[in-house]
Formats: sequence, structure tokens, C-alpha cells
Amino acid sequence: MQILVFATNNPNKAREVEHILGGKYQVKTLKDIGCHEEIEETADTLEGNAQLKARYVKEKYGFDCFSEDTGLEVTALNGAPGVHTARYAGESRDPGANIAMLLKNLEGHDDRSARFRTIITLISGDQEYNIEGICPGRIATQPTGVGGFGYDPVFIPEGYDQTFAELGDDVKNRVSHRALATNQLVELLGKLG
Ligand code: IMP
Repeated sequence: MQILVFATNNPNKAREVEHILGGKYQVKTLKDIGCHEEIEETADTLEGNAQLKARYVKEKYGFDCFSEDTGLEVTALNGAPGVHTARYAGESRDPGANIAMLLKNLEGHDDRSARFRTIITLISGDQEYNIEGICPGRIATQPTGVGGFGYDPVFIPEGYDQTFAELGDDVKNRVSHRALATNQLVELLGKLG
């Protein structure tokens, strides 16, 4: 089976991508290739951060690889938290605190529309490809559900009445931003042979 190096140490992302790939590829994460350092996400766009992680692995470890960066973009907050999604409530990256901050900042806004946007960067040989997956939806008024991770307890994808955390892995991994981007990655890998 073909091996794909995923430039992440986030077990939630790795688990979802493996589920979406459905056994077509074997995924190795950073720790599997002996990379234990934290790759600083210093760019001011999702694209920039995704590129930075993939380029780091290619340059330092020599592997073709893909990386991803995801942001939650809320209409009433002019696209925030966006590239600051992980650290919205501070450096602790605490999901509960991030959600509390989001709900507080949305108080008094009728428009609760939002979207998750994932950028995947694939480095194959000397070529670099960027892929985007967008999942539109809205922010719930309170957290519900226990599945998923991050902001999943407050994100209701379009076409559903429950949050990703309530809908569970099977639904999330069919309709999510990460699923849409990963499916395009598979298509691209197929073309590249
Ligand atoms: P990063 O892509 O690792 O920088 O993550 C950005 C932030 O978005 C983190 O706070 C994650 O918890 C959150 N996040 C990323 N993907 C998802 C998702 O699929 N659902 C909910 N939150 C997510």
C-alpha cells in the first residue's frame, strides 16, 4: 500500500484523514518519521501555514508529504477567528475556552453563519499543490455533543440541525471541510500516479 506522510502531530486530524482515505493509503504522521519538534505556524494565512509545514518536512526529512491548516471563518466576525482559530482564547489552545470566546463574541448577532476552511498542501517531487475544502454552516447558541474535536460542539453543517459533535464521525467525515479537501487530494494523487 502506498505510504503518505501527513505533516501533523494532531491525532484528531490524522484519525479523520485515515477514516476518509478508507484504507487506500497508509498514513504516517510526524512522529512516525521521527519528527518530534513543533513546527511553528507563523504565517498570516491558512495557505501560508499549510505550505510552511509541508516545506519543513520536505526540506528537513526529504519526504514527499502533505499538510493541512484549518480555520473557522464567522461572517458576523468578519472572518474571525480564521488563521487564529487554534489560539482564539489564548496560547493554551483550550477548545472549551475557544468556544466560550466565540459564543461571547457572537452575542447579539442574528447572523450566525460560518464556515470551516481547510487548505491541504501536497509536495510531490519538486511540485507543490494547494487544495481547498469549505464546509458552510452555522454556530449553535450552546455546545452540544461529545464527538469530534475543537469547535465541533458548536458547528452545525449546512443541511443538518445538529452539531458535528452530535452527528458523529461517519457524517462528519463525509461532509466536512477536511473530507472535501482530502477527497480532492486522493483525486490528485491518482492523477500524479
Ligand atoms: P490547526 O489547523 O491545527 O491550526 O487548527 C486550528 C483550530 O481549528 C484548532 O483550534 C482546532 O481545534 C480547530 N479545528 C480544526 N479542524 C477542526 C474541525 O474539523 N472541527 C472543529 N475544530 C477544528
